[in-house]
Amino acid sequence: MALPCARKSKRMERIVVLDFGGQYNQLIARRVREAGVYSELLPHTALIDQIRGEALSGVILTGGPDSVYAENAKTCDEAVFSLGAPVLGICYGMQYIAKVMGGTIRAADVREYGRTAVRMERHPLLDGLDSGIVWMNHNDSVSLCPPGFVPIASTDACPVAAFANDARRLYGIQFHAEVAHTPKGNLIFLNFLKNICGLKCDYTPAGLADSLIEEVRGKVGSARVLGALSGGVDSSVASVLVHRAVGERLTCIFVDHGLLRLNEAEEVLAFYRDKLNLNIISVDARRRFLDRLAGVTEPERKRKIIGEEFIRVFEEEAKKLGGAEWLLQGTIYPDIIESGTATGAKIKSHHNVGGLPETVGFKGIVEPLRMLFKDEVRALGESLGIAHGLVWRQPFPGPGLAIRVIGEITEDKLGILRKSDYILRSELAAAGLAQKVWQYFTVFTGIQTVGVMGDLRTYDYVIGVRAVTSTDAMTVEWAELPYPVLRRVSERIIGEVPHVNRVVYDITSKPPGTIEWE
Ligand code: XMP
Repeated sequence: MALPCARKSKRMERIVVLDFGGQYNQLIARRVREAGVYSELLPHTALIDQIRGEALSGVILTGGPDSVYAENAKTCDEAVFSLGAPVLGICYGMQYIAKVMGGTIRAADVREYGRTAVRMERHPLLDGLDSGIVWMNHNDSVSLCPPGFVPIASTDACPVAAFANDARRLYGIQFHAEVAHTPKGNLIFLNFLKNICGLKCDYTPAGLADSLIEEVRGKVGSARVLGALSGGVDSSVASVLVHRAVGERLTCIFVDHGLLRLNEAEEVLAFYRDKLNLNIISVDARRRFLDRLAGVTEPERKRKIIGEEFIRVFEEEAKKLGGAEWLLQGTIYPDIIESGTATGAKIKSHHNVGGLPETVGFKGIVEPLRMLFKDEVRALGESLGIAHGLVWRQPFPGPGLAIRVIGEITEDKLGILRKSDYILRSELAAAGLAQKVWQYFTVFTGIQTVGVMGDLRTYDYVIGVRAVTSTDAMTVEWAELPYPVLRRVSERIIGEVPHVNRVVYDITSKPPGTIEWE
């Protein structure tokens, strides 16, 4: 079953960003949304109907690592240039437009990386920008404009740093306007959207909620929907949104897979019942998940088993309810990117994307948040009136503690992990840091070390403490927690959790690490 792709309604302004594999591509989609227009990142291989969707206001072609003349250089359906919507190419995207339209691209004599001085001409795409600094990152560049195109910016090494064909509404910039190092780079996106595409740029989280609700209605019609509710912000926002769209035809399932934090199942259910008017069924699936995970040590295998077992539980519950055709998941964009896309490498299989089994007993999966980042989901949640405490809950992964016990999962290890994690959470709350730090948890490392307690030798476990700051989980810094807090956490874990004699603090950012250890 192919995963459905979000389609926007006819009323909506919508920009498609075609992904040619560059490093900053998700930033482009985000800059467009920040400028006030809904945008979707699609692979460069997307079919023309998928690009056109029900509304298309413009297309942006991203950067990428290839040379346009390379044998397997990435391409897209050239019909995008004839859809009538303006196209803006960035870096590789600009060179690709030049190649298709009959210009010349060559390896630059001097490669430009980093801060570069640029001269800008007067053009609606460059309104409000003066000659100054931009961020470059390229080997090749356009040396001769295609017929009908004129240069509108240049640098010492790059005579065509931007070009325009106003008659065909095709544009290109060689520099990266999407990164923070290009001052006023956001103005280029705003100019493209307002001056070139003629858009109102009035997208807001509230407006987005309305379009998403309309989209869900269009997709599921009068069918019933089963919602996977984990207690986290993504699935909560997705459920409230779909509840507004289909009302009582949504039934939410909360699965206790035995991999939740201390008291989590009770707390989450009480919160949902009191604060959100959702129809919820709670399923105790602790035994079956732990049985299937017995003896499994490999992280990807754990993720796949959990992804599959979730689906099987949902299928069974759907049957008990007399059938539900659609499964609702709170998948967000980083889940998709990290699970591997046509252009991006697989980092880990998020249980709700790469961890899904091949066959799924539902007509389709509804994922209204699949193009959003976490902070955008939170803004959407606030606009839907969801309680602040829930919207700002720290993220917790679907596979739960399974990916925080390194190696084989046992009840004993889970017990140690739960107690240590509870201590960390209480201490951060006491220090007023609970909502200032993006995510914080403990890890059962599986390593045993020698210690001395009460004059006796110990040979017990090492607990890892992880705390990170971030805005979207794509990149993170390890959190500089105050030493007194770390000291107290360490003393309490060793003093209160049996079989732990050492606590270590993880000082790795992402990249090169990831947030979770598995
Ligand atoms: P990583 O470890 O990839 O995590 O840096 C990024 C964010 O995603 C969460 N995470 C998951 N969430 N299913 C989820 O619902 C998963 O399989 C999964 N794996 C990681 C992680 O906790 C962090 O917030």
